[in-house]
Amino acid sequence: MKILVTGGAGYIGSVATAELIAAGHDVVVVDNLYQGHREAVHSDAQFVQADLADMDAVKSIFVQHTGIDAVMHFASYTLVGESMQNPAKYLRDNTVAGVNLIDAAVAAGVGRVIVSSTANLFEKPDSMPIEPDNTIVPGSPYGESKYILERTLHWYERIHGLKYACLRYFNAAGGTPNRGEDHTPELHLIPVVLQVALGQRESITLFGGDYPTRDGTCVRDYVHIVDLAQAHILALDGIARLGSRKYNLGNGDGFTNLEVVQAARRITGHAIPCTIGARRPGDPAILIASAKKIREELGWEPRYPSIDQIIGSAWEWHQSHPNGYRTK
Ligand SMILES: NC(=O)c1ccc[n+]([C@@H]2O[C@H](COP(=O)([O-])OP(=O)(O)OC[C@H]3O[C@@H](n4cnc5c(N)ncnc54)[C@H](O)[C@@H]3O)[C@@H](O)[C@H]2O)c1
Repeated sequence: MKILVTGGAGYIGSVATAELIAAGHDVVVVDNLYQGHREAVHSDAQFVQADLADMDAVKSIFVQHTGIDAVMHFASYTLVGESMQNPAKYLRDNTVAGVNLIDAAVAAGVGRVIVSSTANLFEKPDSMPIEPDNTIVPGSPYGESKYILERTLHWYERIHGLKYACLRYFNAAGGTPNRGEDHTPELHLIPVVLQVALGQRESITLFGGDYPTRDGTCVRDYVHIVDLAQAHILALDGIARLGSRKYNLGNGDGFTNLEVVQAARRITGHAIPCTIGARRPGDPAILIASAKKIREELGWEPRYPSIDQIIGSAWEWHQSHPNGYRTK
């Protein structure tokens, strides 16, 4: 198939592009390089530098690249904290970009769209692990922008018959030999911990030590980026067979922030000094996904389910790319 991957120069989209190419698909990547890296884009993919906020640019992608069968939409502003400071960047810009893309795709005859959604839809979970039909309470303007995207897809299905999948990732993590996490600023726990192990930061401060968890720090569910990419590939065929779907994606295991630091100490052999700071507003104590629905319906089975595999693969990438893509 011919797939348009938005955000394909970013962390997860670049790995999905590589996995799609390995599976025999043709890929066109669109990215504005706001956060992505041209070097991360697989050499067999066609690359278009464009901003999805620009509707004329989005339409012209479908004119210049005819025959696109499906779209995978990873492009987004992604920072929960920033969205609490600058809600318009999320409620307006993420939303406009997503609606432009979906509208142009449908106008060009694309029948399938798969979007990246988030655990941030579930600020107040009804139960743990979190099932896809859990009550949606977005935890920030970032989460709200993803919910608006999900609702947009609902209406494009109803009006135009579009088939879609919303894949709500919990914490994406890990690396491959050629691709890994390189964000500025870097705010995710695992790469920050590994930057301490590389000697690029002196220590790490965890947000809060008085949560009702095993050791007082927050519990999160980590899922490897290759497993996320495979879920997208399964969903391509799945929604054609079964119809539109919403799936939560995680390993169903929760690790406390301190357990992640301890695993990183074990893997890197570095002491990784760590202190406990104040809670970060809006951080739920525990977020664990139930991926039962995607396992049962699509046969999704994570290849890298253990936290040691996830951190170990990230560590290999960070060691071989200590300055991210700039060293390549
Ligand atoms: N990383 C996680 O743990 C996580 C968890 C849940 C959901 N998600 C979602 O997964 C997707 C990918 O996340 P990521 O960690 O790879 O982020 P990323 O920032 O590494 O990648 C996003 C890419 O989109 C591009 N982009 C942003 N806005 C654009 C626009 N208007 N036009 C064109 N390109 C644009 C950026 O340049 C970047 O390359 C995002 O939608 C994110 O919200 C990520």
